[in-house]
Amino acid sequence: MPHWTANSLADALKDLHPDLRVLGPEALAGRHPGEHPDNLAAGVMALPATTEAAAALIGWCRANHITIMPQGGTSGLVGGGVSRAGEVILSSQRLNRILAIRPEESTVEIEAGVTLEALQAALLPHGLTTGIDLGSRGSATIGGMLSTNAGGILAFRNGVMRHQILGLEAVLPSGEIFSDLTRVVKVSAGPDLKQLFIGGEGAFGFVTRIVMTVERLRPQRVTALLGVADAASALTVVSHLRGLSAVTLEAAEMMWPRYVKEHAALKGFDLGWLEDDAAMLLVDVSAETQEQAAGQLEEALADLWDRADLKGGIIAQSFEQSRRFWDLREDSGFYLARFPEAPSFDISIPPTELDAYVADLLEGLRRTGSGYEAYVYGHVADGNLHIALAAPGPLPKDIKHAVEDAVYGGVTARGGSFSAEHGVGLEKRDAYGHHVSALKQSLARQIKALLDPDGLFNAGKVPF
Ligand code: LAC
Ligand code: ZN
Repeated sequence: MPHWTANSLADALKDLHPDLRVLGPEALAGRHPGEHPDNLAAGVMALPATTEAAAALIGWCRANHITIMPQGGTSGLVGGGVSRAGEVILSSQRLNRILAIRPEESTVEIEAGVTLEALQAALLPHGLTTGIDLGSRGSATIGGMLSTNAGGILAFRNGVMRHQILGLEAVLPSGEIFSDLTRVVKVSAGPDLKQLFIGGEGAFGFVTRIVMTVERLRPQRVTALLGVADAASALTVVSHLRGLSAVTLEAAEMMWPRYVKEHAALKGFDLGWLEDDAAMLLVDVSAETQEQAAGQLEEALADLWDRADLKGGIIAQSFEQSRRFWDLREDSGFYLARFPEAPSFDISIPPTELDAYVADLLEGLRRTGSGYEAYVYGHVADGNLHIALAAPGPLPKDIKHAVEDAVYGGVTARGGSFSAEHGVGLEKRDAYGHHVSALKQSLARQIKALLDPDGLFNAGKVPF
């Protein structure tokens, strides 16, 4: 077997298929690696522009025992896109065509490398938008979002990627093309095998095409920031707003007090309207007109003031102000300047259990004796919390277990998940080992062995 260097690999691949572009170490050296410094560590990237070119690449890698790292927009937060020397990165970047927009069906057919933002922009003239939205929309690809079963802001209303996908096409590790491009919601025809690729993190194949549902765009929106005592109070607001027929709730994002205070101080955001030590709830509502949205929101807040025990509130008066409100929530990595590589977690908990969970979490962290405090924020209406420790990472070995116990303890028993929307990747593989049942792990391994007996795809990460 030849010993491949990144250069010799790139050389061997470059004439494999007319629709395949190959970048070697020199070309990759100037690229930003994305959210993980090792995403481009393989030093070789194959960029097919067609499914056939991807199949040719996969066939060659199989024959030559070269492992493949499927990669989307490199915006993943758990190291799921990390590659290593000796591997080939299989990037979806050139699979970026929007193949069909069908307004009457509320569906689109796209290639996997289309970014969320590009899809939203293409839908705009049709009065449509995606039923899923998230902060990294500019870089996240639909294929990558499918592979992690991403969730984001609208999940409380529309579900996660799994609920948006009607059909897909993928190249299997065998080089065969799995094509299931159904355009209908209803398919009652045995096991739905395409679900394997959704949340499969590229372990079972390389997704090339996707059919997904889209929804009507409601551009007339108003944003408000509300002070809340706790998640229960936030959920009272959510449930009230969801019950109003003239407005649609577009977002309900909560930030706990430490996050609010430090982020606002950093950005020079005035918190004079907010009671001390209150948490913050950001809500976005849409209606037929801006005035109607604002009027309905004001009326609702007057109703809710005592009932939800609100601790203050402001309604954005302009688009710019609304962006500033959103920046408090979406620029969530603000703490990284102070705490580089701050250990972070992405869990979900049934919403009504959030307050008990957060109290246990803070108490659990105190009990570790580490002195760690936590930034807590997230998608309160579906119970998805992001937790970052106010400490530089990675965690020292002697304290890691105790901290993870504080974060993950009670998550499964409460009916939640140790990983909500970011995936498992490299960083959560220990947690996967601890929190997924032995039977599920064994079934996932057996399915993996069936589809990818040589361990060609996404090698060295979680064994599925
Ligand atoms: C967010 C990312 C971290 O919601 O999922 O900000
Ligand atoms: Zn999130």
